[in-house]
Amino acid sequence: MSERLRIALTKGRLQDKSVELFESMGLDCSPVRDPGRRLIHALPNYPLDVVLAKAPDVITYVEHGVCDLGVVGKDTILEKGGAFYEVLDLGFGRCRFALAVKRDSDFYGTYKTRRVASKYPGVTRAFFEGKGMDVDIIKIEGSVELAPILDLADGIVDIVETGATLRENGLEPIEDVAQVSARLIVNTASMKLYKNEIADFLTRMERRLGGEA
Ligand code: PRP
Repeated sequence: MSERLRIALTKGRLQDKSVELFESMGLDCSPVRDPGRRLIHALPNYPLDVVLAKAPDVITYVEHGVCDLGVVGKDTILEKGGAFYEVLDLGFGRCRFALAVKRDSDFYGTYKTRRVASKYPGVTRAFFEGKGMDVDIIKIEGSVELAPILDLADGIVDIVETGATLRENGLEPIEDVAQVSARLIVNTASMKLYKNEIADFLTRMERRLGGEA
């Protein structure tokens, strides 16, 4: 008998694209499209239960094995890390991490220790360590673009998609830090325990990502 798998989907930006991908694989996602206040959604025509979660929680659930699979951005994977298999690049949610500064400011042209604000201190630390540069990292929870404007920081490391937020706030990207997109992750034990079920799911997904009808 086929086991039901459980997948954690990142709420928000990646949610709609994930649901579209699942539907293109033939999965009826009507319970996820009309979630009400329910937190777990059983798909009616495929042995899969869907949990909607914040990005870092997707990783926590998959690492702990309470979800077999997860859809999460590479940004969160780079920041949080963890023990799981990253098996597919889903191709959507494409953006980049960039170092951005106030327009026309000279970030590298000073010997003072630079202050860099970010929602992603781990990614920021790794980036500057890679350059052998000592920087003060200031953790910000939201609207990190404010930090250079308020002169709290000399630069920011943040997600850039269209670049509109930077432009509208007088900032400009000066260096790419990493490319980001949505990834499918799998719990390491589930990969062995539910080999056939996961293989079926992955095959359907890969067919769609490969553009097959
Ligand atoms: C991200 C990021 C930027 C913005 C960039 O925030 O932190 O603020 O998107 O997008 P753009 O280049 O298209 O302007 P998001 O909207 O995801 O909200 P968050 O602050 O909750 O992360």
